[in-house]
Amino acid sequence: MITLRPLEMEDWASVHAYASLPEVCRHQPWGPNTEEDSRRFTEEAVQAGKNRFVFAVLLKQKMIGVCEFKLVSPEDQTGEISYILHPDYWGRNIGSTAAETITDYGFQHHHAWRIQATCAPDNKASSRVLEKNGFQYEGRLREVLQLPDGRRDSLMYSLLRNEWKQQK
Ligand SMILES: CC(C)(COP(=O)(O)OP(=O)(O)OC[C@H]1O[C@@H](n2cnc3c(N)ncnc32)[C@H](O)[C@@H]1OP(=O)(O)O)[C@@H](O)C(=O)NCCC(=O)NCCS
Repeated sequence: MITLRPLEMEDWASVHAYASLPEVCRHQPWGPNTEEDSRRFTEEAVQAGKNRFVFAVLLKQKMIGVCEFKLVSPEDQTGEISYILHPDYWGRNIGSTAAETITDYGFQHHHAWRIQATCAPDNKASSRVLEKNGFQYEGRLREVLQLPDGRRDSLMYSLLRNEWKQQK
């Protein structure tokens, strides 16, 4: 249904189409983006170093979101995923499929032992995406993020390599 390809600089306007929307950034420490913010994000993502891999999510060739795999601790083979879609495409299982695809990528191409993901406590859609992919809830990181309106907690989830193999 969807495919992933490495993000390109030309994608910045598609990034901006969702990253400028308040409902998309509601749980994020950034945004809503200005055009300049979206160009900078895209530029940094395209030029990312060896431990960060950012992909465009394509639906019938249309770029509708981004997902990312980051080796947060290469020496421990620990990676982290994130995903974001334009709201026109929410509620169609696309977020879950994107999360599954980027998780498979992390285990298959980077030999991750553990892949983790965090989300805001009230981001029910994101928690559900992780649960549907077999991620286990580990606990609550208290006041770990600084947002414009104050600090917030994050929920930590993870999937281990042997669990991923079992469910494949
Ligand atoms: C998180 C996000 C990617 C989910 O995308 P999506 O394509 O809508 O996800 P899916 O359709 O695969 O699954 C969403 C699940 O959450 C559930 N859900 C959505 N809103 C919910 C709510 N308020 N309460 C409870 N469950 C909710 C849906 O019912 C669905 O579960 P189901 O398949 O069991 O019915 C999308 O909402 C998004 O881009 N949000 C903004 C960015 C973000 O928060 N990213 C995650 C942090 S890294």
